[in-house]
Amino acid sequence: MYNVRKVTDDLYWVGANDHRLHLFENIYPIPRGVSYNSYLLLDEKTVLFDTVDWGACRQYLLNIEHVLDGRPLDYLVINHMEPDHAACIEEVLLRYPDVVVISTEKAFLMMTQYGFEVGENKIQVAEGDTMDFGKHKVVFVFAPMVHWPETMVTFDTTNGVLFSADAFGSFGALDGKLFNDEVDFDRDWLDDARRYFTNIVGKYGPHVQAVLEKAGTIDIKILCPLHGPVWRTDLGYLLNKYDLWSRYEPEDKAVMIAYASMYGNTESAAQVLASELCERGVTNVVVYDVSTTDVSYLISEAFRVSHIVLASVTYNLEIYPKMLDFLNQMKSLNLQKRTIGIIENGSWAPQSGELMSKFMDDMKLMDVLGEEVSLASSLNDVSYRELREMADAIAEQINGKK
Ligand code: FEO
Repeated sequence: MYNVRKVTDDLYWVGANDHRLHLFENIYPIPRGVSYNSYLLLDEKTVLFDTVDWGACRQYLLNIEHVLDGRPLDYLVINHMEPDHAACIEEVLLRYPDVVVISTEKAFLMMTQYGFEVGENKIQVAEGDTMDFGKHKVVFVFAPMVHWPETMVTFDTTNGVLFSADAFGSFGALDGKLFNDEVDFDRDWLDDARRYFTNIVGKYGPHVQAVLEKAGTIDIKILCPLHGPVWRTDLGYLLNKYDLWSRYEPEDKAVMIAYASMYGNTESAAQVLASELCERGVTNVVVYDVSTTDVSYLISEAFRVSHIVLASVTYNLEIYPKMLDFLNQMKSLNLQKRTIGIIENGSWAPQSGELMSKFMDDMKLMDVLGEEVSLASSLNDVSYRELREMADAIAEQINGKK
Protein backbone atom coordinates (compact mmCIF):
# COMPACT_ATOMS: atom_id res chain seq x y z
CA MET A 1 0.00 0.00 0.00
CA TYR A 2 1.25 3.50 -0.80
CA ASN A 3 2.14 5.86 2.05
CA VAL A 4 2.62 9.48 0.98
CA ARG A 5 2.18 12.98 2.36
CA LYS A 6 1.44 16.25 0.62
CA VAL A 7 4.10 18.94 1.16
CA THR A 8 2.44 21.61 -0.99
CA ASP A 9 -0.41 21.51 -3.53
CA ASP A 10 1.80 19.86 -6.13
CA LEU A 11 4.69 18.42 -4.15
CA TYR A 12 4.53 15.06 -2.36
CA TRP A 13 6.74 13.25 0.12
CA VAL A 14 7.16 9.77 -1.34
CA GLY A 15 9.93 8.53 0.98
CA ALA A 16 9.94 5.72 3.53
CA ASN A 17 10.67 5.01 7.18
CA ASP A 18 13.07 2.33 8.34
CA HIS A 19 12.85 0.71 11.79
CA ARG A 20 14.73 -2.41 10.74
CA LEU A 21 18.15 -0.85 10.32
CA HIS A 22 19.97 -0.86 13.66
CA LEU A 23 23.19 0.89 12.66
CA PHE A 24 23.13 3.81 10.21
CA GLU A 25 26.22 3.58 7.99
CA ASN A 26 26.79 0.35 9.97
CA ILE A 27 28.14 2.43 12.86
CA TYR A 28 25.54 4.79 14.42
CA PRO A 29 22.76 3.27 16.58
CA ILE A 30 19.33 4.50 15.50
CA PRO A 31 16.87 3.25 18.14
CA ARG A 32 14.19 5.62 16.77
CA GLY A 33 14.79 4.45 13.19
CA VAL A 34 15.44 6.75 10.24
CA SER A 35 13.53 8.15 7.29
CA TYR A 36 14.73 8.37 3.71
CA ASN A 37 12.96 11.35 2.19
CA SER A 38 12.20 11.69 -1.49
CA TYR A 39 9.88 14.24 -3.09
CA LEU A 40 7.80 14.15 -6.26
CA LEU A 41 6.72 17.35 -8.03
CA LEU A 42 3.71 17.30 -10.35
CA ASP A 43 4.19 20.23 -12.73
CA GLU A 44 3.94 20.30 -16.55
CA LYS A 45 6.85 17.93 -16.11
CA THR A 46 7.01 15.39 -13.30
CA VAL A 47 10.17 15.59 -11.21
CA LEU A 48 11.45 13.18 -8.57
CA PHE A 49 14.03 14.48 -6.10
CA ASP A 50 16.44 11.75 -4.95
CA THR A 51 15.62 8.11 -4.23
CA VAL A 52 15.82 6.02 -1.03
CA ASP A 53 17.85 3.24 0.54
CA TRP A 54 17.62 -0.19 -1.05
CA GLY A 55 15.86 -1.58 2.04
CA ALA A 56 12.94 0.82 1.49
CA CYS A 57 12.69 0.51 -2.29
CA ARG A 58 9.44 -1.46 -2.53
CA GLN A 59 7.48 1.09 -0.46
CA TYR A 60 9.09 3.90 -2.43
CA LEU A 61 8.09 2.50 -5.84
CA LEU A 62 4.49 2.04 -4.65
CA ASN A 63 4.46 5.67 -3.51
CA ILE A 64 5.76 6.99 -6.84
CA GLU A 65 3.28 4.93 -8.84
CA HIS A 66 0.40 6.24 -6.73
CA VAL A 67 1.34 9.92 -6.99
CA LEU A 68 2.09 9.76 -10.72
CA ASP A 69 -1.33 8.15 -11.25
CA GLY A 70 -0.48 7.07 -14.78
CA ARG A 71 1.63 10.07 -15.74
CA PRO A 72 5.16 9.45 -17.05
CA LEU A 73 8.15 10.39 -14.90
CA ASP A 74 10.15 13.06 -16.73
CA TYR A 75 13.09 13.91 -14.47
CA LEU A 76 15.00 12.43 -11.55
CA VAL A 77 17.17 14.98 -9.70
CA ILE A 78 19.97 13.40 -7.66
CA ASN A 79 21.17 15.95 -5.12
CA HIS A 80 23.27 13.41 -3.21
CA MET A 81 24.33 10.02 -4.51
CA GLU A 82 25.25 8.24 -1.27
CA PRO A 83 23.53 4.85 -1.45
CA ASP A 84 21.00 5.66 1.30
CA HIS A 85 19.53 8.04 -1.31
CA ALA A 86 20.69 6.68 -4.64
CA ALA A 87 20.43 2.91 -4.31
CA CYS A 88 17.08 2.84 -6.12
CA ILE A 89 18.12 4.81 -9.21
CA GLU A 90 18.28 1.72 -11.38
CA GLU A 91 14.89 0.47 -10.14
CA VAL A 92 13.36 3.83 -11.06
CA LEU A 93 15.00 3.66 -14.49
CA LEU A 94 13.67 0.13 -15.03
CA ARG A 95 10.10 1.31 -14.44
CA TYR A 96 10.44 4.71 -16.11
CA PRO A 97 13.06 4.16 -18.85
CA ASP A 98 12.52 7.59 -20.42
CA VAL A 99 13.33 9.52 -17.24
CA VAL A 100 16.19 12.01 -17.55
CA VAL A 101 18.59 12.03 -14.59
CA ILE A 102 19.86 15.44 -13.47
CA SER A 103 22.96 15.69 -11.30
CA THR A 104 26.53 16.95 -10.97
CA GLU A 105 29.59 15.69 -12.87
CA LYS A 106 31.08 14.26 -9.67
CA ALA A 107 27.84 12.50 -8.80
CA PHE A 108 27.61 10.85 -12.23
CA LEU A 109 31.20 9.66 -11.82
CA MET A 110 30.48 8.22 -8.38
CA MET A 111 27.28 6.57 -9.63
CA THR A 112 29.47 4.68 -12.10
CA GLN A 113 31.83 3.69 -9.28
CA TYR A 114 28.89 2.22 -7.37
CA GLY A 115 27.44 0.54 -10.46
CA PHE A 116 24.35 2.77 -10.58
CA GLU A 117 24.23 2.97 -14.39
CA VAL A 118 22.07 5.80 -15.73
CA GLY A 119 23.03 5.54 -19.42
CA GLU A 120 22.97 8.58 -21.68
CA ASN A 121 19.61 9.96 -20.55
CA LYS A 122 21.16 12.54 -18.28
CA ILE A 123 21.77 16.25 -17.80
CA GLN A 124 24.94 17.35 -16.06
CA VAL A 125 24.41 20.64 -14.26
CA ALA A 126 26.88 23.26 -13.09
CA GLU A 127 26.69 25.63 -10.11
CA GLY A 128 23.89 28.13 -10.66
CA ASP A 129 22.28 26.33 -13.61
CA THR A 130 18.51 26.67 -13.79
CA MET A 131 15.69 24.53 -15.16
CA ASP A 132 12.06 25.17 -15.90
CA PHE A 133 9.54 22.39 -15.20
CA GLY A 134 6.44 24.46 -16.10
CA LYS A 135 5.22 26.62 -13.24
CA HIS A 136 8.28 25.76 -11.17
CA LYS A 137 11.77 27.06 -11.88
CA VAL A 138 14.71 25.68 -9.96
CA VAL A 139 18.35 26.59 -9.47
CA PHE A 140 21.05 24.07 -8.65
CA VAL A 141 23.51 25.11 -5.95
CA PHE A 142 26.61 23.07 -5.17
CA ALA A 143 27.15 22.02 -1.55
CA PRO A 144 30.43 20.07 -1.53
CA MET A 145 31.19 18.03 1.62
CA VAL A 146 27.67 18.46 2.96
CA HIS A 147 27.96 15.56 3.12
CA TRP A 148 30.01 14.17 0.19
CA PRO A 149 31.95 16.13 -2.47
CA GLU A 150 29.37 15.59 -5.21
CA THR A 151 26.46 17.04 -3.25
CA MET A 152 24.22 19.82 -4.51
CA VAL A 153 20.97 21.32 -3.27
CA THR A 154 18.06 22.40 -5.46
CA PHE A 155 16.08 25.57 -4.78
CA ASP A 156 12.61 26.02 -6.23
CA THR A 157 12.42 29.77 -6.85
CA THR A 158 8.67 29.57 -7.50
CA ASN A 159 7.59 28.44 -4.03
CA GLY A 160 10.76 28.77 -1.91
CA VAL A 161 11.26 25.03 -1.36
CA LEU A 162 14.88 24.04 -0.76
CA PHE A 163 15.71 20.38 -1.41
CA SER A 164 18.65 20.43 0.97
CA ALA A 165 20.14 16.93 0.64
CA ASP A 166 21.59 15.72 3.98
CA ALA A 167 21.69 19.26 5.39
CA PHE A 168 19.04 19.96 8.05
CA GLY A 169 18.30 16.24 8.42
CA SER A 170 18.02 14.04 11.48
CA PHE A 171 18.02 10.45 12.65
CA GLY A 172 14.56 9.19 13.63
CA ALA A 173 11.69 7.74 11.63
CA LEU A 174 8.84 10.12 10.84
CA ASP A 175 6.07 7.64 11.62
CA GLY A 176 3.47 9.79 9.90
CA LYS A 177 4.51 13.15 11.28
CA LEU A 178 6.22 14.83 8.33
CA PHE A 179 6.41 18.47 9.40
CA ASN A 180 8.39 20.13 12.18
CA ASP A 181 5.17 21.73 13.46
CA GLU A 182 3.63 18.28 13.93
CA VAL A 183 6.24 17.26 16.53
CA ASP A 184 7.87 18.71 19.64
CA PHE A 185 11.24 19.09 17.95
CA ASP A 186 13.08 20.54 20.89
CA ARG A 187 11.93 17.75 23.18
CA ASP A 188 11.88 14.76 20.84
CA TRP A 189 14.18 15.48 17.89
CA LEU A 190 16.92 17.96 18.72
CA ASP A 191 19.30 15.44 20.30
CA ASP A 192 19.04 13.11 17.32
CA ALA A 193 19.38 16.01 14.86
CA ARG A 194 22.55 17.10 16.63
CA ARG A 195 23.88 13.54 16.82
CA TYR A 196 23.22 13.12 13.10
CA PHE A 197 24.87 16.40 12.15
CA THR A 198 27.87 16.28 14.46
CA ASN A 199 28.88 12.71 13.71
CA ILE A 200 28.25 12.79 9.97
CA VAL A 201 28.94 16.34 8.82
CA GLY A 202 30.60 17.83 11.93
CA LYS A 203 34.08 17.61 10.45
CA TYR A 204 33.11 19.91 7.59
CA GLY A 205 32.06 23.01 9.51
CA PRO A 206 33.52 25.54 7.02
CA HIS A 207 31.67 23.83 4.13
CA VAL A 208 28.42 24.02 6.08
CA GLN A 209 29.10 27.69 6.75
CA ALA A 210 29.51 28.22 2.98
CA VAL A 211 26.09 26.64 2.36
CA LEU A 212 24.51 28.73 5.13
CA GLU A 213 25.96 31.81 3.48
CA LYS A 214 24.37 30.85 0.16
CA ALA A 215 21.10 30.04 1.98
CA GLY A 216 21.12 33.52 3.47
CA THR A 217 20.80 35.00 -0.01
CA ILE A 218 17.60 33.14 -0.96
CA ASP A 219 14.10 33.30 0.46
CA ILE A 220 13.59 29.78 1.81
CA LYS A 221 10.00 28.94 2.79
CA ILE A 222 10.25 25.17 3.20
CA LEU A 223 13.27 22.97 3.95
CA CYS A 224 13.03 19.47 2.49
CA PRO A 225 15.97 17.40 3.79
CA LEU A 226 16.73 13.78 2.92
CA HIS A 227 16.18 12.57 6.52
CA GLY A 228 13.81 13.67 9.28
CA PRO A 229 11.11 16.34 9.40
CA VAL A 230 10.31 18.86 6.66
CA TRP A 231 10.56 22.43 8.00
CA ARG A 232 7.80 24.87 7.11
CA THR A 233 7.78 27.08 10.23
CA ASP A 234 10.44 28.61 12.46
CA LEU A 235 13.27 27.86 10.02
CA GLY A 236 15.51 30.25 11.94
CA TYR A 237 15.56 27.81 14.88
CA LEU A 238 17.27 25.10 12.85
CA LEU A 239 19.45 27.48 10.84
CA ASN A 240 20.72 28.91 14.13
CA LYS A 241 21.57 25.43 15.45
CA TYR A 242 23.45 24.65 12.22
CA ASP A 243 25.31 27.93 12.50
CA LEU A 244 26.45 27.11 16.06
CA TRP A 245 27.37 23.51 15.31
CA SER A 246 29.32 24.34 12.16
CA ARG A 247 31.25 27.12 13.93
CA TYR A 248 31.96 24.68 16.80
CA GLU A 249 30.33 27.07 19.25
CA PRO A 250 28.62 25.45 22.27
CA GLU A 251 24.84 25.49 22.37
CA ASP A 252 24.63 25.61 26.17
CA LYS A 253 26.70 26.80 29.09
CA ALA A 254 26.84 23.29 30.45
CA VAL A 255 29.19 20.62 31.75
CA MET A 256 29.64 17.12 30.40
CA ILE A 257 31.54 14.74 32.66
CA ALA A 258 32.71 11.70 30.71
CA TYR A 259 34.29 9.02 32.85
CA ALA A 260 36.20 5.79 32.24
CA SER A 261 36.10 3.70 35.39
CA MET A 262 37.09 0.08 36.07
CA TYR A 263 36.00 -0.45 39.67
CA GLY A 264 33.74 2.53 40.28
CA ASN A 265 36.20 4.94 41.91
CA THR A 266 36.66 7.24 38.92
CA GLU A 267 32.89 7.08 38.47
CA SER A 268 32.50 8.11 42.09
CA ALA A 269 34.79 11.12 41.52
CA ALA A 270 32.68 12.07 38.47
CA GLN A 271 29.51 11.93 40.56
CA VAL A 272 31.06 13.93 43.41
CA LEU A 273 32.13 16.60 40.91
CA ALA A 274 28.59 16.72 39.49
CA SER A 275 27.21 17.30 42.99
CA GLU A 276 29.82 19.96 43.77
CA LEU A 277 28.90 21.78 40.55
CA CYS A 278 25.21 21.67 41.38
CA GLU A 279 26.01 22.99 44.89
CA ARG A 280 27.58 25.98 43.09
CA GLY A 281 24.48 26.55 40.98
CA VAL A 282 25.76 24.82 37.83
CA THR A 283 22.93 22.37 37.28
CA ASN A 284 23.19 21.88 33.52
CA VAL A 285 25.48 18.89 34.13
CA VAL A 286 25.43 15.50 32.43
CA VAL A 287 27.50 12.44 33.37
CA TYR A 288 28.37 9.66 30.92
CA ASP A 289 30.16 6.33 31.26
CA VAL A 290 32.28 6.05 28.10
CA SER A 291 32.23 2.26 28.40
CA THR A 292 28.47 1.96 28.07
CA THR A 293 27.58 5.01 25.98
CA ASP A 294 27.94 4.81 22.21
CA VAL A 295 30.51 7.36 21.17
CA SER A 296 28.06 9.05 18.77
CA TYR A 297 26.03 10.22 21.81
CA LEU A 298 29.21 11.45 23.52
CA ILE A 299 30.11 13.44 20.42
CA SER A 300 26.66 15.02 20.26
CA GLU A 301 26.90 16.15 23.88
CA ALA A 302 30.47 17.39 23.40
CA PHE A 303 29.18 19.67 20.62
CA ARG A 304 26.35 20.90 22.88
CA VAL A 305 28.24 21.84 26.05
CA SER A 306 30.79 24.52 26.85
CA HIS A 307 32.80 22.48 29.38
CA ILE A 308 33.95 18.86 29.14
CA VAL A 309 35.51 17.02 32.08
CA LEU A 310 37.48 13.92 31.08
CA ALA A 311 37.90 11.48 33.94
CA SER A 312 39.94 8.41 33.05
CA VAL A 313 41.84 5.62 34.66
CA THR A 314 45.32 4.82 33.37
CA TYR A 315 45.35 1.54 31.41
CA ASN A 316 48.59 -0.13 30.26
CA LEU A 317 50.24 3.23 30.95
CA GLU A 318 47.86 4.80 28.37
CA ILE A 319 44.46 6.48 28.32
CA TYR A 320 41.68 3.91 28.85
CA PRO A 321 40.77 2.64 25.33
CA LYS A 322 37.11 3.69 25.44
CA MET A 323 38.11 7.21 26.51
CA LEU A 324 40.78 7.31 23.82
CA ASP A 325 38.16 6.39 21.22
CA PHE A 326 36.04 9.37 22.37
CA LEU A 327 39.04 11.71 22.19
CA ASN A 328 39.99 10.44 18.72
CA GLN A 329 36.44 11.01 17.48
CA MET A 330 36.41 14.55 18.89
CA LYS A 331 39.67 15.30 17.12
CA SER A 332 38.60 13.66 13.88
CA LEU A 333 35.39 15.72 13.85
CA ASN A 334 37.38 18.90 14.45
CA LEU A 335 35.67 19.81 17.74
CA GLN A 336 37.22 22.93 19.20
CA LYS A 337 36.60 25.93 21.47
CA ARG A 338 35.83 23.94 24.63
CA THR A 339 37.07 24.25 28.20
CA ILE A 340 38.46 20.94 29.40
CA GLY A 341 38.84 19.58 32.93
CA ILE A 342 41.11 16.60 33.52
CA ILE A 343 40.71 13.92 36.20
CA GLU A 344 43.19 11.06 36.16
CA ASN A 345 43.33 7.86 38.14
CA GLY A 346 46.15 5.36 38.55
CA SER A 347 46.96 2.90 41.31
CA TRP A 348 50.74 2.84 40.79
CA ALA A 349 51.73 4.99 37.80
CA PRO A 350 49.01 7.53 36.88
CA GLN A 351 49.60 8.77 33.33
CA SER A 352 46.19 9.43 31.86
CA GLY A 353 46.03 13.06 33.01
CA GLU A 354 49.20 14.11 31.27
CA LEU A 355 48.28 12.11 28.17
CA MET A 356 44.77 13.58 27.93
CA SER A 357 46.16 17.05 28.48
CA LYS A 358 48.68 16.57 25.65
CA PHE A 359 45.90 15.21 23.44
CA MET A 360 43.90 18.39 24.00
CA ASP A 361 46.98 20.51 23.20
CA ASP A 362 47.02 18.90 19.74
CA MET A 363 43.40 19.94 19.12
CA LYS A 364 42.27 23.41 18.12
CA LEU A 365 41.41 26.02 20.76
CA MET A 366 40.91 23.62 23.64
CA ASP A 367 41.46 25.39 26.95
CA VAL A 368 42.65 22.91 29.60
CA LEU A 369 41.92 24.07 33.15
CA GLY A 370 44.96 24.36 35.40
CA GLU A 371 42.97 22.72 38.19
CA GLU A 372 43.68 19.03 37.53
CA VAL A 373 42.71 16.14 39.76
CA SER A 374 44.90 13.10 40.35
CA LEU A 375 43.47 10.06 42.10
CA ALA A 376 45.53 7.23 43.54
CA SER A 377 42.87 4.50 43.19
CA SER A 378 40.12 6.51 44.91
CA LEU A 379 39.28 9.95 46.22
CA ASN A 380 41.07 11.03 49.40
CA ASP A 381 41.26 14.34 51.21
CA VAL A 382 43.88 15.74 48.82
CA SER A 383 42.14 14.76 45.59
CA TYR A 384 38.75 15.79 47.01
CA ARG A 385 40.20 19.26 47.60
CA GLU A 386 41.49 19.29 43.99
CA LEU A 387 38.03 18.26 42.81
CA ARG A 388 36.39 21.12 44.71
CA GLU A 389 38.92 23.55 43.21
CA MET A 390 37.98 22.29 39.75
CA ALA A 391 34.29 22.79 40.58
CA ASP A 392 35.09 26.33 41.75
CA ALA A 393 36.92 27.13 38.51
CA ILE A 394 34.15 25.77 36.26
CA ALA A 395 31.40 27.44 38.28
CA GLU A 396 33.21 30.76 38.17
CA GLN A 397 33.45 30.56 34.38
CA ILE A 398 29.85 29.49 33.83
CA ASN A 399 28.20 31.65 36.47
CA GLY A 400 30.43 34.58 35.61
CA LYS A 401 29.33 34.50 31.98
CA LYS A 402 25.63 34.47 32.80
FE1 FEO B 1 21.95 10.48 4.02
FE2 FEO B 1 25.10 11.39 3.06
O1 FEO B 1 23.56 10.35 3.06
